[in-house]
Amino acid sequence: MTSMHSLLRLTVIGAFLGPLALQGFIGRVLGELPAGYNSMSALEKQQALWEQIEDTSYDSQNMPLPTEDFTMANISKLFDPNYDSVSYLLKSDELPRTRLKLAHPYGSVCMVHFNITNNDTSFTGLFRSGGIGLLRMSSGNMDQTAIAVGLGLKIFISGQNSQNFLLLFTRAGQGSDRNFFANPMSNVIPAEPATPVDGAFEKAILALPGKREENPENGLNIPLFEQASVTSDGTKEEKVVTPYRMTLTPNADLGWASDDTKDFRTHLADIPMGSVLYTVSARRRRGDEDIEIGQLITSGQFVASVYGDKTLFFSHPRTPWKL
Ligand SMILES: *[C@@H]1O[C@H](CO)[C@@H](O)[C@H](O)[C@H]1NC(C)=O
Ligand SMILES: *[C@@H]1O[C@H](CO)[C@@H](O)[C@H](O)[C@H]1NC(C)=O
Ligand SMILES: *[C@@H]1O[C@H](CO)[C@@H](O)[C@H](O)[C@H]1NC(C)=O
Repeated sequence: MTSMHSLLRLTVIGAFLGPLALQGFIGRVLGELPAGYNSMSALEKQQALWEQIEDTSYDSQNMPLPTEDFTMANISKLFDPNYDSVSYLLKSDELPRTRLKLAHPYGSVCMVHFNITNNDTSFTGLFRSGGIGLLRMSSGNMDQTAIAVGLGLKIFISGQNSQNFLLLFTRAGQGSDRNFFANPMSNVIPAEPATPVDGAFEKAILALPGKREENPENGLNIPLFEQASVTSDGTKEEKVVTPYRMTLTPNADLGWASDDTKDFRTHLADIPMGSVLYTVSARRRRGDEDIEIGQLITSGQFVASVYGDKTLFFSHPRTPWKL
């Protein structure tokens, strides 16, 4: 849309806020969310964020890398558990201006519909209501030898904070396989040798406020309790029945060759509206079988944008699984 105009607007705002940000000014955001954003309906919130994405979309012929202005000083923050803990503590759909999306900087966002296709489960909250949201498909890097595919799924809740799902294949990704639809994605990922950044995230979890049993068991498990405690219309569940694990199985028809070097964001932009991206399954307990519960369907097209890479935030849920 009017991306030149909007980029100019953002740059001008940035020039004013930049010095303030350096003085620790927290809470101002890149976007311009409407007043009373949180109390809006799920649909209004989806539209408000989507407008920001369209207004700041990259030129599809010349997509920039959002890390161009990352310095070593910025990246070193990832090793600081106090910095990482904000991923769990901040409840907002936007990052503060003083933070960069360091862990998964490259991505593309699409409006999605989480359709529940199986009513015959005991799961509660979003696992029975489904909902509308935004899916960000991202990579931890653009290094073609180590594709670190990640999903951030935000489901909007009318009148309340959004619920977020963070899903990976493994921490290290899928090696040199460039097809983003090659592997299932889950909130529980295999244990594997942790990098120093993973170690900082583990420390961040241990340092979170509250009792140990009120926080995630570790960084390999991003829990689903909060998402099972409210439906998309904002109804609070009396008795929460939460899956231990959910798995998104990709629609293989949408994938591409494992050695295709085209920018993944260009591939994603070709996916038509109404496509089933993933089949969603869930299990109640750690050792149970997966039950198919729904589908994640596109209700627009993928757009790579400044807003999606610099401002859109997927708060990490904390409350752990319970029987
Ligand atoms: C990134 O690092 C530079 C210094 O290298 C600093 O001026 C800037 O404020 C940092 N940006 C953020 C968002 O932390
Ligand atoms: C998804 O659910 C919505 C509303 O429940 C329905 O209108 C739509 O047809 C469903 N889409 C598919 C592909 O099943
Ligand atoms: C799920 O339940 C709703 C009503 O609660 C019904 O309209 C819908 O057809 C059911 N879907 C399936 C797949 O059973």
